[in-house]
Order: sequence, then C-alpha cells, then structure tokens
Amino acid sequence: MIRPEVDLSVTLGRIAMKNPIATASGCSGYGEELARFYDLSVLGAIVTKSITLEPREGHPPPRLTETRAGMLNAIGLANVGLDAFLAEKLPALAAYRVPVIVNVAGSTRDEYVAVCAALDAAPGVAGIELNVSCPNVKEGGMEFGVEPGPLAGLVEAVRAKVSRATLLVKLSPNVTDIAVTARAAVDAGADALSLINTLRGMAINPWTGRPALTNVTGGLSGPAIKPVALYMVRRVWEQVAGPAGVPILGLGGIQFPEDVIEFIRAGATAVSVGTANFVDPETGPRLVEGLRDGLARLGCGGVRELVGAIEK
Ligand SMILES: Cc1cc2nc3c(=O)[nH]c(=O)nc-3n(C[C@H](O)[C@H](O)[C@H](O)COP(=O)(O)O)c2cc1C
Repeated sequence: MIRPEVDLSVTLGRIAMKNPIATASGCSGYGEELARFYDLSVLGAIVTKSITLEPREGHPPPRLTETRAGMLNAIGLANVGLDAFLAEKLPALAAYRVPVIVNVAGSTRDEYVAVCAALDAAPGVAGIELNVSCPNVKEGGMEFGVEPGPLAGLVEAVRAKVSRATLLVKLSPNVTDIAVTARAAVDAGADALSLINTLRGMAINPWTGRPALTNVTGGLSGPAIKPVALYMVRRVWEQVAGPAGVPILGLGGIQFPEDVIEFIRAGATAVSVGTANFVDPETGPRLVEGLRDGLARLGCGGVRELVGAIEK
C-alpha cells in the first residue's frame, strides 16, 4: 500500500519539532537511558529530568511503586544540579540532534530565576519547562502551581530572564480548576503550557500498615490518569490556550498512538510520554510511526489539522 504523505511537524512556541512526540520529564533522565534503545533524533523533542540549582539526592527508596494501571513516585527531584548539567549532560544531549527542553524546579523564586537565566544563555537549550509542583519554601510550603498569585509571580520573574528559549509552564492537576492556573501562566508570559503533572496519591501495605513510599505520598502517573489529563487539556484549550493561541504539550498516561490522537483532538499540539517508557523503552518511535499510520487512516494531511478537532 502506498502511504499518503502525512506532515507530522509541529511548532511549540519557537521550537520546530519534526513530530509531536517528546519524552516526559523524569522518565528518561538526560536522554542517555533511552539512547541505548534507539536513535533519539526520531523524536520531536527530549524533556529532561527537573534541574535544580544544587545537586539533589532525592528521597530514600522505596520511591517508586506500581499501582493498578499506573505508578506512584516520590523521587524528590534527584538530579545532578545546574553546573554538572551544563558541563556534562547538555553537551551529550546536543549530540542527539533533537530539540532539548530542560525542566526546571526550585524551592524559591530566586532559585528558579537563576537556573532559567543560565539555561537561556546556554546554547542547545530550545525550551525551558517550569515544574511548578514544588513546595515554595519561602511562602509556607504551598506548591507554586496551585495558587494563581504565586504562579503568576514566578512566571513573570522567570520570563524577565528568558528571552531566547521557549518558556513552558507545566501545570499541576492538584487544583480545583486548572483553567485558573493556566490563565495565570499565560497572562504572566508563558509561551506554551504542559499538562498534566502527576496527581497526588498514596499506597499502604495492608498487612504491615507501612506506606509503600518512604515519603508516604507520591505522584500518580500512567494510564490511570489519562482520562483526567485529557479532560484538563480540553478545558485549558477551550478556556485559555485556544483563544490565546498558546500551544499545549499534553501528557498523562499516553501509551498508544490512539492516545496521542486523543490528546491532539483535545487540543494538544504535541505530547510527552513518561511512564509508558518503563513498560516499553521504544514507546517513542512506536508512537511516531503509529501516529503517521493513524493520520493516514483518518485521511488527515497533518497534525495541525487535528488540534482541538472533536465532533459534538
Ligand atoms: C519516575 C517519575 C519521575 C518524574 N519526575 C519528574 C520531574 O522531575 N519533573 C517533572 O516536572 N515531572 C516529573 N514527572 C512527571 C511526568 O513528567 C509526567 O508529568 C507524569 O508522569 C504524567 O505522564 P505519564 O503518565 O506519561 O508518566 C515524573 C514522573 C515519574 C513517573
């Protein structure tokens, strides 16, 4: 069968992606783990593990546990820190010939600003994704991402220092209405929105009474959260991102090409894939090819035609 030409390319802010499939933060380190399985240049982009100003050990194990149709993690932002990332990890990432989006975390506004400013100045960083699901130690431990005020303050401060890289804000689903935080991020200058991060959850061994994670609570990811993520992408696209012309990087439970098509129809321009890589490390290339077939089957010439397209 001759396959009709399908244009998989998309643009996320100023990032030109050859297809809409990216990795998700925290699920493939700094690229090297997946590079053992396939050529990463087949992906649309790589999103790194969260980088903080100083190196972090993270929480003691167990910090991952499987759940029905998903998993819980409380890694605690283990990472090499900004200096080692710039000196060692970023040059290695550049060799993969794929846009690099660096995820950034911090516990104060100043920490985020310092890391983002350094990354904006570093060649090879196409995008900066703010992980706002971190406790704000200066303002009482509440996550930056759950209140529109602190979130807008953070995004404005970072925006002032990020002029070259595309600035993505990764929204937390642990809110009453995600459109409220989405609007705060867009009004404060986000170029794109990523959603969703993990949903807070926990698991307990019924016989010992011990929580499965040393941190007690963790973030739920994987297929279990897909319907929630899809709804949130749709809500943000309708209420904020669509009207403002701000692209969405959708994620949460994506495992099959059909999931990617659902996210694009909900309003995502591109998607990130996390937990599915633990089941099949070659999920990325499989999704690229499956998406190509799916669009051809739909008689759709390109991804862009399908963004937001649902029938009512
Ligand atoms: C083991 C693990 C580590 C993660 N680490 C980060 C992180 O460092 N920063 C971040 O923004 N999100 C992190 N996430 C969240 C994912 O990027 C993603 O938002 C979430 O898992 C939902 O997507 P998925 O169902 O495809 O995994 C992590 C998720 C997992 C499972």
